Amino acid sequence: MNIITSVSEMQQKMISARSAGQTISLVPTMGFLHQGHLSLLEEGRKRCDVLVLSIFVNPTQFGQGEDFDDYPRDLKQDSQFAEEMGVDIIFAPENSQMYPQKYATYVDVEGITDCLCGASRPGHFRGVCTVVSKLFNIIQPHSAVFGNKDFQQLAVIKRMTCDLNMPVEIIGLPIYREADGLAMSSRNVYLNNDQRQQALVLSQSLARARKLVASGESDCAVIISNLKKDINQKAEARIDYIQICHQLTLEDQTDVDADSVLLLAVYIGKTRLIDNGFLVTNHD
Ligand code: PAF
Repeated sequence: MNIITSVSEMQQKMISARSAGQTISLVPTMGFLHQGHLSLLEEGRKRCDVLVLSIFVNPTQFGQGEDFDDYPRDLKQDSQFAEEMGVDIIFAPENSQMYPQKYATYVDVEGITDCLCGASRPGHFRGVCTVVSKLFNIIQPHSAVFGNKDFQQLAVIKRMTCDLNMPVEIIGLPIYREADGLAMSSRNVYLNNDQRQQALVLSQSLARARKLVASGESDCAVIISNLKKDINQKAEARIDYIQICHQLTLEDQTDVDADSVLLLAVYIGKTRLIDNGFLVTNHD
């Protein structure tokens, strides 16, 4: 397995792989890999000759006062996991490689970035779309694998690749959960024991919403108000948003149907956690 930090070297390697008729799959990450990332690598491995893992904590997707500096990093441990998962190349560029001096180009997806995380974190998806476009241009993968935990991110990336005619198949995989239901996230490391317990309120809210729907409740406002009551009982929980949206448009719904996805973002202490799931099927 190679670790490449230079954009031009990476580009050369990928051009050679393509010329040799090899298929390339990319798993883009910000590192500090957990089991959820490993499931993406497992899927990527099945789909290609050359499996690339990118590890880059992308500064342009963090707002002022967010956790860019504190974001956990451990390239040594990530490399061990990558080796075990059969990764061929880790692409781990420095900021100066991705955003050299005079850098001035950004990718903006309109509409579906205005709500949910896009509303709470202005500029976030501009940063995500910019770096993902750059990774696609550098690596030229045939497929790229993302997790459904960042449901809106996946929808935005699908929109971008379609709108910009990027020849990459975008694959979304189910949320990977701890045994007690907490969605895996590199940010879970910020939680102390008590907060870790309180964080279960996100997946419990999803389970409660599904139960309400199964028992005949279809009014989104009623479901959301029930969940808010439960979450607000947790001492360290502060709701950023709880919404029930159409899976494709991400527009708020009034009544639950087969396209309804519950999306939540809740601060537990200072840590902002997200979760989501379909309400009619038990499908993350
Ligand atoms: O989901 C992430 O880890 C990041 O947003 C991504 C897609 C790697 C872009 O920096």
